[in-house]
Amino acid sequence: MPNSKLVLITGITRGLGRAMAEEFVRLGHTVVGCGRSTREIGKLCERFGKPNDFYPVDVSSDDEVKSWASVVLTSRGAPDLLLNNAGLVNKNARLWEISAREFDGVIDVNLKGAANVIRHFAPEMVKRKSGVIVNFSSGWGRSADAEVAPYCASKWGIEGLTASLAEELPSTMAAIPLNPGIINTEMLQSAFGSSSSNYMAPEAWAKIAVPFLLELGPAENGKQLTVPVRGAND
Ligand SMILES: NC(=O)c1ccc[n+]([C@@H]2O[C@H](COP(=O)([O-])OP(=O)(O)OC[C@H]3O[C@@H](n4cnc5c(N)ncnc54)[C@H](OP(=O)(O)O)[C@@H]3O)[C@@H](O)[C@H]2O)c1
Repeated sequence: MPNSKLVLITGITRGLGRAMAEEFVRLGHTVVGCGRSTREIGKLCERFGKPNDFYPVDVSSDDEVKSWASVVLTSRGAPDLLLNNAGLVNKNARLWEISAREFDGVIDVNLKGAANVIRHFAPEMVKRKSGVIVNFSSGWGRSADAEVAPYCASKWGIEGLTASLAEELPSTMAAIPLNPGIINTEMLQSAFGSSSSNYMAPEAWAKIAVPFLLELGPAENGKQLTVPVRGAND
């Protein structure tokens, strides 16, 4: 396909990442992705086959991301669209009730994980002077609620990290913080409980989000964007 893009997605084993993989491949793009669950990674390899490729990688490990990037950049080159989607939410609790370990886990994945991926993939994109980096933020990266302080801290952090990165890239590239909206995934079920069933399924969301992501370019560099789905700014 002439306009086929190489799309790199972290957190591809379920939720939004899994649904985006299906839609990008359906539209003729090549998807390379990672997640920690080796079982789900195996299923993705079977489902999509080459030239798509899926790897068991924990984005909170700079060493694992470095090895993954070396394999991907050697075999495929730099991605056209890099989606830092992998994320965790803390179990609902007041900040002083959350252990240091749980707090670290959220920051290590949501914030430092995205930085690890950028550290190892962005240099080749910058060398080529093309590509779009989308860092998944949240409504809770621009507003706040009780019992999700670590998550809010990580997503407000992602907004700042991305704004700074946007100042560093060549003018032919883009870094964008993206609020995906509110979608019924395991993460939402953890935070919202039974009311999460009032929100759209990831597959329906991906039909709107993927075409939106494919249109992003240098004109959107540094802009705080939201996928145009109903209720995204609630
Ligand atoms: N759903 C929503 O309404 C909503 C709203 C605002 C923002 N977001 C953001 O959207 C993104 C996707 O969320 P989701 O709802 O799809 O969550 P989800 O259903 O819980 O899926 C999270 C994905 O991230 C992966 N992941 C977690 N830790 C990882 C690690 N250390 N290394 C690699 N992969 C890791 C998980 O796979 P493994 O467990 O296999 O590693 C899974 O594939 C997140 O950044 C989230 O903050 C979601």
